[in-house]
Amino acid sequence: MGQAEALAAASDTLDALAAAQEGFDGIELKKGARNFCFADGNPKARVLILGEAPGDEEDRQGRPFVGRAGQLLDRMFDAIGLSRRAVDAEKAFYITNVLTWRPPGNRDPRPDEIAVSLPFVRRHIDLVAPDLIVLMGNIACDAAIGRRGILRLRGTWVQAFGRPALPMTHPAYLLRNPPAKREAWADLLSLAARLEGSA
Ligand code: URA
Repeated sequence: MGQAEALAAASDTLDALAAAQEGFDGIELKKGARNFCFADGNPKARVLILGEAPGDEEDRQGRPFVGRAGQLLDRMFDAIGLSRRAVDAEKAFYITNVLTWRPPGNRDPRPDEIAVSLPFVRRHIDLVAPDLIVLMGNIACDAAIGRRGILRLRGTWVQAFGRPALPMTHPAYLLRNPPAKREAWADLLSLAARLEGSA
C-alpha cells in the first residue's frame, strides 16, 4: 500500500483526513501553493460536487470554488434550492476538488498528481457518503471514471465511487461559453429530479 492509501485508510473522520492529506508531502504542488484547500459546504448533504483543483482565489482563501466560477456554481445550485451554507442536509451541497493544492498558473493537473490524490478523494467521498455526486468537468470525470470528453459525457448518469454520478460542464467553461448554460440547466433539473426520487 502506498503512503497516500495508508494515510487515507487510517483516517476515520473528515478532520483526520484533512490533517493527514495536508501533512502528506508526496505531491510537489504543495510546495508552490499558499493554502490547503480541502472542502466546503455541509458534510451531511446528499449531494457532493467534485471539481478539479483550486485556482488563484481558492489558493488565497483555502476553500474550493470561491472565485468567479464558484460564484456561478453557487447561483446554479441555488436555482434548484441547494446551497453550500444550508444547515438542512436536504437543501445543502458539499464541495471538494480532485486536487487540494493549486497547480502553478492554473495548468491542468498531471496524471501523476491525480493518481496520488485519488486515495484521499475516495476516502473523502466514503466519509461524506453522499447519495449523489456531480462530476464537475473533465478532470473530475478522468479521476472518477477514467474518461474525458465532458461535452459527450455531460447529462448521462454513471456510477462513480460506488454511487450515482452526473457529469456536468464546469462553471469556468460556462463563463466562457454562456450558450452552454442551457444544457447545464437541463443537468441541474436531472439532479433535482433524482434527489426527489423521480428520475
Ligand atoms: N475550479 C475548480 O474545479 N475548483 C475550484 O475550487 C475552483 C475552480
